[in-house]
Amino acid sequence: MVPAMIDAEDRPGMATLLAWWREMGVDGALDESGTDWLAREGAVPGQAFALQKVEPQKAEPPVASPRPAPAAQRSAPAPGRFDAPPAGDTAPRRFPTAPPDAAALSARQAARGAATLDALRAVLERFDGCALKATAKSLCFYRGRPDARLMIVGEAPGREEDLAGKPFVGRAGQLLDKMLAAIGLGEDDVHITNVVYWRPPGNRTPTPQEVQVCRPFLERQIELVAPDVIMTLGGPAATALLGIEGGIMRARGRWRELEVAGRKVPAMPTLHPAYLLRTPIGKRLAWRDLLAIQERLLGSRGK
Ligand code: URA
Repeated sequence: MVPAMIDAEDRPGMATLLAWWREMGVDGALDESGTDWLAREGAVPGQAFALQKVEPQKAEPPVASPRPAPAAQRSAPAPGRFDAPPAGDTAPRRFPTAPPDAAALSARQAARGAATLDALRAVLERFDGCALKATAKSLCFYRGRPDARLMIVGEAPGREEDLAGKPFVGRAGQLLDKMLAAIGLGEDDVHITNVVYWRPPGNRTPTPQEVQVCRPFLERQIELVAPDVIMTLGGPAATALLGIEGGIMRARGRWRELEVAGRKVPAMPTLHPAYLLRTPIGKRLAWRDLLAIQERLLGSRGK
């Protein structure tokens, strides 16, 4: 049982609260002061964050967070509002997160309008359809070159990435950089991103719904970068982007094709660097995949 309020002097109470947070997946503090998510008044997940963080964009209307179909017996909530419980009602508050297909539709419309990566970033900053945004500190869009020939797609930002606002900057990212250096590539040669743009709480795997909502942005990103080759890292990214089922060990090392906006891009699923940190013996397999990618890049140079 966790006390609602803990006195700053109540050390055993603090210890209990910290233990409970750890169990709930909280693994670090993001800000000097805590955020009371329950005190967000009428904001749906993501919206309060967007309003706080994106002041330069004030003139632009927020990208609509699509509303679920109103329930038959009650009046529809105002757009982007949750139903505040009547006073004295102890039932949990329900946030009307949009059904994923409605959110994905809104994402598709928003992404389509972005003519450049900067515009796409601005659209993502204002997009409220992905609930991951509510608990993440930053948007992690990409790092590397905007028009790289090799695009790398991982699973989701972790803690370090959330703090830095960039994908793959933690230990796995450092290993990824070393792997790329081994085939002669630096950050300026690649475009690195993830299948979702915000850190899932506790670093859990993103849900299919979260992936689905971010997908239109990723497709638009691929279209704008127009890479010659895509490399996916780990099972979840291979499943999310290439529809691969049955495990990354079986799928890795075999070329696939991804069609985005009428353009076919060769794609290579390989092992995730976080897995390689835990299982160094897998590095020889990843090395083979990297060599295949290098060969492909050299073969298609100037085409
Ligand atoms: N793992 C990922 O899949 N992506 C990151 O950005 C960091 C770690």
